[in-house]
Amino acid sequence: MKLTYLGHSTVVVEEGPFKAIIDPFISGNPSSKLKLSDIKNLTHIFITHGHGDHIGDSVELAKINDALVITNAEISDYLSDKGIKIHAMHIGGRFKFDFGTVKMTPALHGSGIKTEKGMLYGGNPGGFLIEVNNKKIYHAGDTGLTMDMKLLEPENIDVAMFPIGGNYTMDIDDAVIATEFVKPKIVIPIHFDTFPVIKADPNEFKEKNKESDTVILENGESYVF
Ligand code: NI
Ligand code: MN
Repeated sequence: MKLTYLGHSTVVVEEGPFKAIIDPFISGNPSSKLKLSDIKNLTHIFITHGHGDHIGDSVELAKINDALVITNAEISDYLSDKGIKIHAMHIGGRFKFDFGTVKMTPALHGSGIKTEKGMLYGGNPGGFLIEVNNKKIYHAGDTGLTMDMKLLEPENIDVAMFPIGGNYTMDIDDAVIATEFVKPKIVIPIHFDTFPVIKADPNEFKEKNKESDTVILENGESYVF
């Protein structure tokens, strides 16, 4: 499996013909170097919650790639008139797709969708456990530290992606505790440095994380396992 970090919370997941992007925040992301047309052959798009830096370019990418969007029921409803393919899930639900298995996990956060008509209700924010070919990853979405993460330890997660930027989500110290709860083999820090209020040093997380190995990815870098 190949995981490519595109800055903020955006991660591309590739395993055989499966090519997914999680929380595609490209065109509005000040740290992004890519054009949407650079992202090709996507089969799936995962959206953890309704905030603009996570829904991001989902609609346009879904159209360009004819990719299936997987997100919670409320965001699915919001996207239902946009002419794209959608699969609605919700917190705690697990589903077997043709490529593998997905479970939506809880996140402590908000999920409002900002539109021209005001803020729409975006359901509960979440994260995703994605298993393909016996390789299991966990993208936590935007979340504060929560005891619910202890329920993920028996999942035997290979790679967890945790926000470390603070202010809106866990900071470094909370992400260290989250790592102790989840016990993944590898942690990739995400959701930091995009904006001044979420500045954080991933090397500090790496030093403090004694539970798992930390893999720090620069924007555009990949980790293969
Ligand atoms: Ni958010
Ligand atoms: Mn965010």
